[in-house]
Amino acid sequence: MTTTKLPDRGIAWPELERQLKEAGKHDVDWRNGRVPMFIHYAGDDVLEVAKKAYLMYFSENGLGGRAFGSLVKFETEVVAMGLDLLHGGPEARGAMTTGGTESIFLAVKCARDRALARNPGMGTPQIVMPLSAHPAFDKAAWFLGMKTVRVPLGADFCADVDALRAALTPETAMLVGSAPAFPHGVVDPIPQIAALAQERGIWMHVDACVGGYFAPFARELGADIPDFDFAVDGVTSISADLHKYGYTAKGASTLFFADPESFALMGYAFDNWPRGQYFTHTLVGTRAGGAIAAAWAVMNYLGRDGYLRVTERVLATRRAMQAGLDRLGLPTLGQPELSVFAFGSPERDMAAIGRGLGARGWIVGYVKEPAGIHHMLNLTHEPVVGRYLADVEEVLKDKATRATAVSGSVVAEY
Ligand SMILES: Cc1ncc(COP(=O)(O)O)c(C=O)c1O
Repeated sequence: MTTTKLPDRGIAWPELERQLKEAGKHDVDWRNGRVPMFIHYAGDDVLEVAKKAYLMYFSENGLGGRAFGSLVKFETEVVAMGLDLLHGGPEARGAMTTGGTESIFLAVKCARDRALARNPGMGTPQIVMPLSAHPAFDKAAWFLGMKTVRVPLGADFCADVDALRAALTPETAMLVGSAPAFPHGVVDPIPQIAALAQERGIWMHVDACVGGYFAPFARELGADIPDFDFAVDGVTSISADLHKYGYTAKGASTLFFADPESFALMGYAFDNWPRGQYFTHTLVGTRAGGAIAAAWAVMNYLGRDGYLRVTERVLATRRAMQAGLDRLGLPTLGQPELSVFAFGSPERDMAAIGRGLGARGWIVGYVKEPAGIHHMLNLTHEPVVGRYLADVEEVLKDKATRATAVSGSVVAEY
């Protein structure tokens, strides 16, 4: 039954608890590894730490630094740990935000303002980015009165730097590279994009929402990806989500800047109302104290060795899935080195394979052009690799999967 108005009399907790459980009865049980995204699980112990820390600071508000020195300390230390991982120098700055979309929104806003300040006569500021960049950039541009230019990828699904160069105009305010991009999980050639940005005096943003807290550890474990962070000259800002591979509570991301001048562009101060001075570093006002405390707690709980351990297992899961799919004639698209990959074959109808997997209880994510099936992995997937591969093998027996004519027709819902 759907509630359409506030109940006349309050309902006691036991009944509410029952209704809450009932409402979730038909949700997918993410613990069984059948959800290819949305969840980032690093073990029950990590989840417990995040939940306990969140509840301890459930009511506290990140807006109130004067009242909650605890949250200021947690955020300062989270930002410092993130900057250390991503090779921020002594000039680098950062803040916690509520998610990847907010981090990207703010970076876009700062790039726009810097471009307009340098060249007030410019037309509509533009973001030039690879086709694989996240829609958060288009959303930000839409809100901020800007335009986006999406540039075709190279054959390896990475950004094509020459194509990016060719798309630059005097209106270009920002260049983007992803580490990794969500569709194929591959890392763009950040050093080359940053060199181009530096040569033209353009703001360069690295979207490491997925890789910010994964790639540093994957590299330490041997992943073959080029420098992607502030180790690269010309990188102006980096978004890195804590609520993805930081394994913290949802509502937590970080946005970093190479220097204090760029960071200052996102601060907002206002005084012209009866209540006096108002200031925020980021977009939102009130911020969940729980999300800040949980991020601090999980980062300290896992530590470098914990992140390395979890990363190693996620990488092994990806390799096992890739090898099994390869044996079934379903190769990986491109050469992903981190936690996200997509597979597909022009000889198979990937939509039919997806339907078959769906019928066997798997939630399926797709990529299009070329058609493929997409995975963003975490430890829930580790125990079900065998089951997944067995189900794919079964599905491939269905003649419908051999109908290559409709390949490419997948509807890639997010
Ligand atoms: C590469 C990339 N950037 C940005 C985002 C947006 O993050 P959020 O959903 O936390 O706003 C995502 C989400 O999956 C992503 O994959």
